[in-house]
Amino acid sequence: MPDDVTARPSAEGPAAYTWGGRFADGPSAIMQAINASIGFDRKMWRQDIRGSLAHAAMLAHVGVISREDEAAIRDGLNAIAAEIEGGTFQFREDLEDIHFNVEARLIERIGDAGKRLHTGRSRNDQVALDVRLWVRDALDGLDAQVADVMRALVARAAEHAGTVMPGFTHLQPAQPTTFGHHLMAYVEMLSRDRGRLADCRTRLNESPLGAAALCGTGFPIDRHMTAEALGFDRPMRNSLDAVASRDFALEFLAACAICATHLSRFAEEVVIWTNPYFGFVKLSDAFTTGSSIMPQKRNPDAAELVRAKPGRIAGALVGLLTVMKGLPLTYGKDMQEDKEGLFDAAENLALALAATAGMVRDMQPVVGRLAEAAGAGFSTATDLADWLVRELKMPFREAHHATGRLVAKAEEMGVDLAGLTIGEMRAVEPRITDGVFGVLSVAASVRSRTSYGGTAPANVAAMAAEWAERLG
Ligand code: ARG
Repeated sequence: MPDDVTARPSAEGPAAYTWGGRFADGPSAIMQAINASIGFDRKMWRQDIRGSLAHAAMLAHVGVISREDEAAIRDGLNAIAAEIEGGTFQFREDLEDIHFNVEARLIERIGDAGKRLHTGRSRNDQVALDVRLWVRDALDGLDAQVADVMRALVARAAEHAGTVMPGFTHLQPAQPTTFGHHLMAYVEMLSRDRGRLADCRTRLNESPLGAAALCGTGFPIDRHMTAEALGFDRPMRNSLDAVASRDFALEFLAACAICATHLSRFAEEVVIWTNPYFGFVKLSDAFTTGSSIMPQKRNPDAAELVRAKPGRIAGALVGLLTVMKGLPLTYGKDMQEDKEGLFDAAENLALALAATAGMVRDMQPVVGRLAEAAGAGFSTATDLADWLVRELKMPFREAHHATGRLVAKAEEMGVDLAGLTIGEMRAVEPRITDGVFGVLSVAASVRSRTSYGGTAPANVAAMAAEWAERLG
């Protein structure tokens, strides 16, 4: 925020070489402050230069500019890329955005040829292109990272396909499962996240370049050529849509928000599991911090931060939905507000994915404690009810009732189900035989759950092997 909002910055901003024909004065300081996006859209410099190189090559190909001009533009843009890479490029707020910053520097370096680059193009299609390219690059990076988390989970799941632990509903002990099966649930969620990213990529992979300001251009440009050069499947079919639409960004943010939500659920489980009252899992010093005052503490900060990330990522989605709603066609400067949330969401999801991969590889399940907890809370009660159905042909609802009475009895006597004698069981259901004790152990319970997608260690090991193969 400038101190003196009535002050006029230099009149040599973009007006000097763009709209100066119409405008006698420069903008007010406050106009510059609200208008400038260079502080954040400089992140798209690579995409901006990539787009300009493709545009210039196409203009020369169709004869709108000369080969010499194109060569000068190419050398100039490559030199600018080197300046930015080397940290010597002067980003100027009075030049508003990344597009003007690069173009002004190009003109400064190569003169008239630089002034020809913007033929048949507008900042409207240029920014639509840059954001698409940025999202596409980010999306590819995130997809690789999700695959990495999946690989980490699959490896741990294979290792712990038979490590029993309690399965929960309502965060209450429900039925025994295995640590491997639990981790593999996240592999499935993350694979759908990859599917959403892939769908988003397919739809966004059309080029807006050449839509110009909004209506296309009379120059004989070749939009198919630039689309192909930039790795797009085809040019977008409607010029108004090309400059007005940001649904690709919304879709990307939605996919990011869902993925972040999955990571958040896992992170919350890590927080619970590492709590000493649970003691299911240990994290090393690499992913925990101590307390400045309480010497005994080990805090799962990385997990807590991953748990929190959907706040800003879903926030970016809601933010951009709100910017876009009710916006009349075509481009509106409102759309400049698409970027900060978008960049922040992608960068924070990348961090969350890296932290999750790290924690998955780092964590050590406490096998004995997990086994002890897996048997607590009458966790094999469903197995007992199923036995009554199978062996005594009892209708399930009746079996459920009889088992409930057995659980109440065991609870009253302070034993688990296997601790009841056959006599005590028969007092509730006279037809029960010794065979029932075969299904009351945790190991028998998990082994029996062989239905497709079920918890049986053999199932889990096979599923983990299948995924390991698929992920390569
Ligand atoms: N900085 C602008 C944005 O991010 C670039 C496009 C500006 N176009 C315009 N006609 N003012 O949206």
